[in-house]
Amino acid sequence: MYKTLMRPILDHLDSEKWHKNVKELLHYSEHSSATLKALEIFANCGSRVKDEKLHVNLAGIEFENPLIVGAGWDKTGRAVEALHRIGFAGVEVGSVLEKPQYGNPKPRQHMINSEVCLNWLGFNSPGMQKVSENLSKYKNSNIPIGISLGINKNIKGKDAPRSHAVVAEKLYDLASYFAINVSSPNTPGLRKLQNRKKLEEIVSAVLGVVSENETKKPIFVKIAPELTFDQIDDVIDLVLDKSIAGIIATNSTNNSEIRAKYGEHWLKKPGGLSGNDYEYKKLSTKIISHIYKQAGKKLEIMGVGGVNDTESAIEKLRAGAKALQIVTGLRGEGLSVAGKINKGVLKFIQTNGLKDISELIGN
Ligand SMILES: Cc1cc2nc3c(=O)[nH]c(=O)nc-3n(C[C@H](O)[C@H](O)[C@H](O)COP(=O)(O)O)c2cc1C
Repeated sequence: MYKTLMRPILDHLDSEKWHKNVKELLHYSEHSSATLKALEIFANCGSRVKDEKLHVNLAGIEFENPLIVGAGWDKTGRAVEALHRIGFAGVEVGSVLEKPQYGNPKPRQHMINSEVCLNWLGFNSPGMQKVSENLSKYKNSNIPIGISLGINKNIKGKDAPRSHAVVAEKLYDLASYFAINVSSPNTPGLRKLQNRKKLEEIVSAVLGVVSENETKKPIFVKIAPELTFDQIDDVIDLVLDKSIAGIIATNSTNNSEIRAKYGEHWLKKPGGLSGNDYEYKKLSTKIISHIYKQAGKKLEIMGVGGVNDTESAIEKLRAGAKALQIVTGLRGEGLSVAGKINKGVLKFIQTNGLKDISELIGN
């Protein structure tokens, strides 16, 4: 019904504005247990799937299934409980910046088609103070919340470690894990921080925050799909050297060949492409496979890039991802995306006689 009735209408409307409207709708559904239940039933065609076979333990965090809302969908931390009710095990909030930032001029979020997005948001964020106020209501919810750490546009490279650490410190008690995001394509110079030396400084600064706290929170590094295998190997070495949790692969792509398929108009526009594009999906899965081949179970992999159905989820799990993130799939498939994938993965496990989801990972 979503694809035949709602989606064609949404395709004609401003993508960022409608994304915000849906987020606010989810936010307001959190005002009573009755509206949350109604949302759960609507999105899952009944109650959400809860089955031990889908449980994932990622760097010590218990997820009831492998699906997490990826960074960028809820940058402000306003709809965590509602996103959980529609079937996601956790939410990665952000990217969160030290200071509020407007981002790039609008329009800056476009649907190339109903399932493929081009975003040039440029780290719009209400800042860490506001995000911490928003998230405080979820403190005792037991819903795993990742905090994606970003930096304001005016932060110079040498100040980047401090700025990441400040956000981690501010949100420490509200986070289950941290993601160092130096891979967004829309902040000039940001991706240069993926360089081994610079990344090491940022990781060390965030580790410094972890060491000051009694409860140790895992750290992930999120990488761009444009990194070469040699560069990815440097990130793997760093993750293992520093004994941090793992890698989130991948961010959106600025690969011009992928964009060129959609014509001159989209080729010229700045931004990162995400969602159900065949080549982009394959690219991120190839990177997950490479990381798994190089590091096996020595680190954790969260797979992200075009996950929108059971097949694409299983593909990334088999490539070696233990958990999966979804952003654009929420727009392409609607609010039922997580429920459908969880049901599909569970059915796959049962019909293939597998013990549980762990037998899918890397196989
Ligand atoms: C509108 C939008 C905003 C995003 N903002 C962020 C962000 O702030 N931080 C980040 O690490 N990734 C961000 N991303 C990238 C996603 O987290 C994800 O890596 C990418 O979209 C691929 O996943 P998908 O195909 O499921 O969308 C954003 C993506 C979209 C579409």
